[in-house]
Amino acid sequence: MSLPVPVLSEGVDPAWLPEEAFRALGGRRILIRGSGPLVETVHAEAAEACARFGGALVSKDPELVLESTGDDESEAFTLGRRDGRTTVTASGGRGLLYGFFHVVRLGAAAFEGERQLREHRPALAVRMLDHWDNVAVHPVMGQVERGYAGGSLFWADGRARGDLERVRAYGRLLAACGINAVAVNNVNVHAAEARLLTDRIGEVADIAGALRPYGIRTHLSVTFAAPMVLGGRETADPLDDGVREWWAGATARVYEAIPDFGGYVVKADSEGQPGPFAYGRSHADGANMLAAALRPYGGTVHWRAFVYDHRQDWRDRATDRARAAYDHFVPLDGEFAANAVLQVKHGPMDFQVREPVSPLISAMSHTALAVELQATQEYTGQQRHVCWLGPMWSEVLRFGARDGLPFEELVAVSNAGDDPFWTGHPLAQANLYTFGRLAWRPDADPGGILDEWIGLTFPGAPGRLADGLRSVLDGSWRTYEKYTAPLGVGFMVQPGHHYGPSVDGYEYSPWGTYHFADRDGVGVDRSRATGTGYAGQYAKPWAEVYESPESCPDELLLFFHHVPYGHVLKSGRTVIQHIYDTHFEGVEEVERARKVWASLADVVAPERHARVAERYEEQLRSAREWRDQINSYFFRKSGVPDGRGRTIY
Ligand code: GCU
Repeated sequence: MSLPVPVLSEGVDPAWLPEEAFRALGGRRILIRGSGPLVETVHAEAAEACARFGGALVSKDPELVLESTGDDESEAFTLGRRDGRTTVTASGGRGLLYGFFHVVRLGAAAFEGERQLREHRPALAVRMLDHWDNVAVHPVMGQVERGYAGGSLFWADGRARGDLERVRAYGRLLAACGINAVAVNNVNVHAAEARLLTDRIGEVADIAGALRPYGIRTHLSVTFAAPMVLGGRETADPLDDGVREWWAGATARVYEAIPDFGGYVVKADSEGQPGPFAYGRSHADGANMLAAALRPYGGTVHWRAFVYDHRQDWRDRATDRARAAYDHFVPLDGEFAANAVLQVKHGPMDFQVREPVSPLISAMSHTALAVELQATQEYTGQQRHVCWLGPMWSEVLRFGARDGLPFEELVAVSNAGDDPFWTGHPLAQANLYTFGRLAWRPDADPGGILDEWIGLTFPGAPGRLADGLRSVLDGSWRTYEKYTAPLGVGFMVQPGHHYGPSVDGYEYSPWGTYHFADRDGVGVDRSRATGTGYAGQYAKPWAEVYESPESCPDELLLFFHHVPYGHVLKSGRTVIQHIYDTHFEGVEEVERARKVWASLADVVAPERHARVAERYEEQLRSAREWRDQINSYFFRKSGVPDGRGRTIY
């Protein structure tokens, strides 16, 4: 029996699945063939659309055929239209589900003219969201670490939510943009969360049950020290037989509770989390032990490559945090088990506004890789600023993809929570949607995805609304970059919470994130010739391109080089003038966007309009703060006045 389509409680925003998005299915005769749980989901969806807009599920003379011919796990489907009949065919329920949502996305166009039969299949098999959700509210990080959208969708009052209707609705939104896996707890695994693996696995099973009808597998973050903290062992040494047995037993019980469990996510030897280094073992030893426990059931371990020294001495100029992931993991290429996936942050540092693409991603040809993005806007405005990340992600995904993609999976840290708009800032929904669609097709044009999101979220939007949305979102990442992070400098943020400017906030800290500004210049020399050698971690041509300030692209200049303020960029401006200009421009762009938004008040639902308008006030206040602090700081360091005589404090 199929479950009904999830119902949102009063006040919860339907995001990209408003009822209107299903209108084109209305009034149609729909034939559904096949069986299995995901076919049941499609059935429920089609029945709901018919109930709402007319039309019927029929057994002959259909206008839309949704057919699953078998019960395999393939996510592919074919879609075509001939003689007034649209047909979606898949070899199992998963493919049919994605085919169904493809028809929803096409809307009326799915039922017009002729359409050549075409196969659609995701480029990446795993398209996953990591939730940094804590079960218990953490004294410093709160319930969702780096969460800007209220509490957790999964956990409330110290346990899994009793009412999982919202989780079902979340699963439905994710399926509609192509996401098929979710890790339900924070990679920093605290005491209560550690037990999800053992005596609290039933709660995870409940969540998995709510996500399953929409084709989403559930994964769990576990602590490497679990055999000690949960199993009473004296060691967590990955080569110890007792430890291996403990993991095998624990994993068997997980699969009794959740037969289609996806696997474990592990942050080891990173920012204080336990790991194999304590036993003199390698990260391959650690990952492979968990891979062995998961293998009999088809599970995967996602082993994070975010391993670096977070207790660095700022006086030590030889250590470079950007080098760490590559230095740790490249020597291990080829040693990881087939079901161990190395999960690599897209940049070498930590989700900054602008970073080069991590050189590790193209250096692990014998290891399964997942690239990790951050949808939650930790360093990109914390969902108070509009910052659509589609263009940034697209650049990352296209980098080095000439000979095929150098990775198999895509992961993002989720930006969703129990906020009525899901993402705090209503326009941040576009990031979640874009992530799913790029994970399905990494070479897709992000602008096209944005248009798709606008079309679904604001069905029937007048041209002025669609244009307005496009104009405030499209360039918003570059705008954010302009008033925060010039030329690849990162981390000029307030320590701890990472919101708002503090140019020297991390300059004398142990975190390894420095800009080295002095009276003469700014930036980090990461060249081979005179710097940390990080540029040498790239393959050709990038190693050479990044090596010299002459060939290094402007937007990454200060990431790779320490240059004088008077250094002339490819743009023709000096570095210092670029800093001033972009900070003034960035604020002006926010002022313009805020006006555009104000002009849309009559065509956007009042709650949504008000929420965005309120956030624009904060964005503008904050952008001015950024402009004035950064400009004043660099004026005071350099003594060079603004060439255009604007106010600098
Ligand atoms: C960042 C973030 C942390 C997080 C870490 C990670 O450093 O600030 O909150 O735990 O990334 O990715 O593990």
